[in-house]
Amino acid sequence: MIARVFVLIVVSITSALANTNNNEVSESLKISGNNHRNHFVRGLGPHVRQTWGEPWPEPQRRTLYGENFMVVRMALFRFKVTNFTCDMIDLALKRYYDILLGAGAESQKLKMRLVVNQAERVTTGYRGHLDVLEVNLLSSCEYLPHDNMDESYKLKIDTPTRPNRGVLVANSNWGILRGLETFSQLVHHSRNHSAFRVKSTFVQDFPRFSFRSILLDTSRHFLSKEILLKNLDLMAMNKMNAFHWHLVDDQSFPFESKLYPELSGKGAYNPYTHVYSRQDVAEIIEYARLRGIRVIPEFDTPGHTQSWGPAVPDLLTKCYQNSTIAGRQPVPDGTFGPIDPTQEKNYRFLKTFLGEVVDTFPDKYLHLGGDEVDFSCWKSNPDIGAFMRNENMTRYESLEEYYMQKLVEIVASFPEKKVSIVWQEVIDNGVEIEKDSVLVNVWKGWHYQEELGNVTRMGYRALLYSCWYLDMISWNNDWPGYYACDPQNFTGSAGQKELVVGGGAALWTEFVDETNALSRLWPRASAPAERLWSSADVKDVEKAAPRLEEHRCRLLRRGYSVQPVNGPGFCEQV
Ligand SMILES: *[C@@H]1O[C@H](CO)[C@@H](O)[C@H](O)[C@H]1NC(C)=O
Ligand SMILES: *[C@@H]1O[C@H](CO)[C@@H](O)[C@H](O)[C@H]1NC(C)=O
Ligand SMILES: *[C@@H]1O[C@H](CO)[C@@H](O)[C@H](O)[C@H]1NC(C)=O
Ligand SMILES: *[C@@H]1O[C@H](CO)[C@@H](O)[C@H](O)[C@H]1NC(C)=O
Ligand SMILES: *[C@@H]1O[C@H](CO)[C@@H](O)[C@H](O)[C@H]1NC(C)=O
Ligand SMILES: *[C@@H]1O[C@H](CO)[C@@H](O)[C@H](O)[C@H]1NC(C)=O
Repeated sequence: MIARVFVLIVVSITSALANTNNNEVSESLKISGNNHRNHFVRGLGPHVRQTWGEPWPEPQRRTLYGENFMVVRMALFRFKVTNFTCDMIDLALKRYYDILLGAGAESQKLKMRLVVNQAERVTTGYRGHLDVLEVNLLSSCEYLPHDNMDESYKLKIDTPTRPNRGVLVANSNWGILRGLETFSQLVHHSRNHSAFRVKSTFVQDFPRFSFRSILLDTSRHFLSKEILLKNLDLMAMNKMNAFHWHLVDDQSFPFESKLYPELSGKGAYNPYTHVYSRQDVAEIIEYARLRGIRVIPEFDTPGHTQSWGPAVPDLLTKCYQNSTIAGRQPVPDGTFGPIDPTQEKNYRFLKTFLGEVVDTFPDKYLHLGGDEVDFSCWKSNPDIGAFMRNENMTRYESLEEYYMQKLVEIVASFPEKKVSIVWQEVIDNGVEIEKDSVLVNVWKGWHYQEELGNVTRMGYRALLYSCWYLDMISWNNDWPGYYACDPQNFTGSAGQKELVVGGGAALWTEFVDETNALSRLWPRASAPAERLWSSADVKDVEKAAPRLEEHRCRLLRRGYSVQPVNGPGFCEQV
């Protein structure tokens, strides 16, 4: 009762605010030229009304059987493993049991209820209660998530072939994880909080793209282990499967190396508090593994490496300034540029250091960066000039190519046979890499469709990030723009489209730290999550908005501070 009164009050406050803001809204719409106006309904009540018990991202196939639904009696509910299992599955069942039980925290009474409420029993479509979800894994578990993992599953809730039963079937443990997430989203409160319901549904699901990532930058601002773990939870709740960890950059070096402890000792913002210990890293990798998420570290070189400098003598190029006295040699100006590519000992260092990285992170992929190399310091340095003349190099791009080529060879020489990911410039500047041992990370906002065409025409596999730089914020609901971007929407053959293996959302942290990382990222990142998982024809913003509204409320109810996504509104059951 108390909860319902509260909700009514919230509605009236919200609509009062919505009314006073109308003029401002229309002004801003004009200014930003936003064309999602239809979506922005004004007047009494929330702008978008949430759905009830609809999943995000939208499954590939989902059939509903009329208005049919079953009531889940939480006090009796359990998962029943009917075939293979392993620790990862057992832990996931515990986790999802807690998530289900946590749903609608206000109604302890509802959770304990054994007898289905009369109101539910007389509702059209009532099909009895569902106390068991059978979990049928058809093979033994794989240990590490990987680039070809099978994430498909089928979920049958009171279908004609399985009346009054709930069954989750998957070929692999990864499919079971994804299916459990879907099931946990289908279970919802009835609109008036008299029971937990699940609609009679047949879901047959698999991802459209195999690579669906979130990039977090932990150099511009340090993000604590707790935030990274919470982000992994949120990724799992959006079926994303790769954590692209941009660990270090110019500003700080928070990764604690065993072989070179002075890297974080001298390069972290604070070597005691702003570092990831080896144990932290192991814990993050394990937490991700249990959720079917790969952890791909990025050690961006040769640019973006100022924080490496203090620990490794002569690693960075010395920059020079011209002497003011005519005829004098230039002199070092005390600043440093990208890694000095002319020094053999730098490659020996990189081989040892990256060897440690490869031992630490079990994923087959390693991100080598290679973006935004500033040539001005190389240009100023007379030794670099002499080296280039000696090597018959006339362009600084060739020097960058020389460096990246050697780096890629180092990575290829590791017995673990890693695949390198590089930012697009590496390929734009003509570095030639064996096609199966590299993924090209397209990130520049301009002409990304043309770039995808170019990269795949050369036969490289590609990842698209350009559309999803979520650190960039703007007035209004920006997710429809993210939602509209399709990684296969470029001019090219079917074979070229196949080479796009996915994409990701990036959160660079110049203006982001623990206080706002998760709320800025979610649920805005849910838009690319659905784009990368669901079928290409799931693209109607009007249809998606109420489902996203529910998803945001769901994440909030599960305890994550995620921001409003559709303008004025409110969440029930929080
Ligand atoms: C809501 O629940 C009450 C009883 O708790 C019931 O009388 C009413 O019909 C229900 N309304 C709907 C729309 O389900
Ligand atoms: C268990 O898995 C095996 C192997 O895939 C399969 O043949 C069998 O039908 C499954 N058992 C049940 C009860 O579904
Ligand atoms: C230094 O002077 C030379 C000759 O005047 C010029 O070509 C070069 O661009 C200058 N370099 C810098 C870094 O200013
Ligand atoms: C540079 O060019 C000269 C003249 O063509 C040639 O003799 C020399 O071997 C070249 N050096 C390298 C490193 O390719
Ligand atoms: C794509 O390739 C064409 C032909 O080489 C080139 O002119 C164009 O600039 C490239 N586009 C991008 C975005 O790099
Ligand atoms: C593809 O992108 C163009 C803009 O470059 C856009 O107009 C078009 O609607 C997009 N098509 C799809 C299917 O997303």
